[in-house]
Amino acid sequence: MQLDFDFSGKHVVVFGGTTGINFGIAQAFARQGAAVTVASRKRENVDNACGELRKYGAPVFGACADVRDFDAVGKALDQAVERLGAIDVLVSGAAGNFLCEAKDMSANGFRVVIDIDLVGSFHVLRQAYRHLRKPGAAVINITAPQSFIPMRYQAHAGAAKAGVDQLTRTLALEWGAEGIRINSVSPGPIDGTEGFRKLMASDEQQRARALAAVPLKRIGTLDDIANLVLFLGSPYAGYISGALIPCDGGGALESVKPPLEAAGAALARQSASE
Ligand code: COA
Ligand code: NAP
Repeated sequence: MQLDFDFSGKHVVVFGGTTGINFGIAQAFARQGAAVTVASRKRENVDNACGELRKYGAPVFGACADVRDFDAVGKALDQAVERLGAIDVLVSGAAGNFLCEAKDMSANGFRVVIDIDLVGSFHVLRQAYRHLRKPGAAVINITAPQSFIPMRYQAHAGAAKAGVDQLTRTLALEWGAEGIRINSVSPGPIDGTEGFRKLMASDEQQRARALAAVPLKRIGTLDDIANLVLFLGSPYAGYISGALIPCDGGGALESVKPPLEAAGAALARQSASE
């Protein structure tokens, strides 16, 4: 079978889609002929993203909206649908993050990340529901490995992304009968992005440690994530719903090693003493 990822005539909305990984996703859909809406907080980011996306020749709409504002998200989606039609693919990926130990984190610091990542995702999904093409729409939430791997300095983001993944599973149950599929994509470290710079690559030593932790021994690219999201948004993924799919060069697998190595060492000590 020859695969054909033609999205002409489809409307793809990427919330938080003006920079980084999510913009890479918006570009990939535009390249494949989709009409694309991108939305985020900053006018400058929205304008830059729309300018780049128009180069692919497909219809583009940009909206400024903070995902923490339920009404603003609703208005942005209403306008997008008025211009470009019902939503065939919705990508929800707006996020904020910083490194901070829980004991040093202010209540507001914890809350702001929960508000953007988790409550914001609910706002986007809830407001988009009435506009999703039924049957046939695909929804993709962009989450992160800390949703299922506990990571130091990530109490806020880990809790938020775990919530997003549970939203994915719950809505796959609730919306499945209407022909809506919903999945989570969990990127590993992705080169050239704000998330990678902030969390893992502030200096060369950190970057080398991040690379060493990936079994495939390379840092991911924007296209690695975009290709998976294109697939999930296409009919070829027509029987996949409620899944959490890591796209991380196998990085998540490393997290199960230390406990097993510790268990192995304990067993070795035990048999040596017998
Ligand atoms: N360490 C500890 N606390 C921090 C922090 C840090 N590096 N950065 C922000 N905070 C705290 C602030 O101190 C504040 O708490 P306080 O009122 O108790 O002092 C709280 O977080 C909110 O910060 P504020 O700057 O007002 O929030 P904002 O809404 O303007 O920005 C952020 C939200 C902090 C998440 C900001 O980093 C952001 O907008 N990020 C988007 C881009 C991004 O992070 N991309 C990577 C995605 S993985
Ligand atoms: P990024 O470039 O900072 O992307 C975040 C996007 O969300 C931006 O377009 C930003 O635009 C928008 N945004 C932030 N807060 C918002 C808000 N309150 N309302 C609306 N839009 C908002 O970061 P990235 O690293 O590419 O991350 C993208 C996604 O991938 C995130 O969900 C992140 O958790 C996930 N991820 C990234 C990595 C990585 O290696 N980079 C790894 C795992 C998971 P504005 O500033 O204009 O609002």
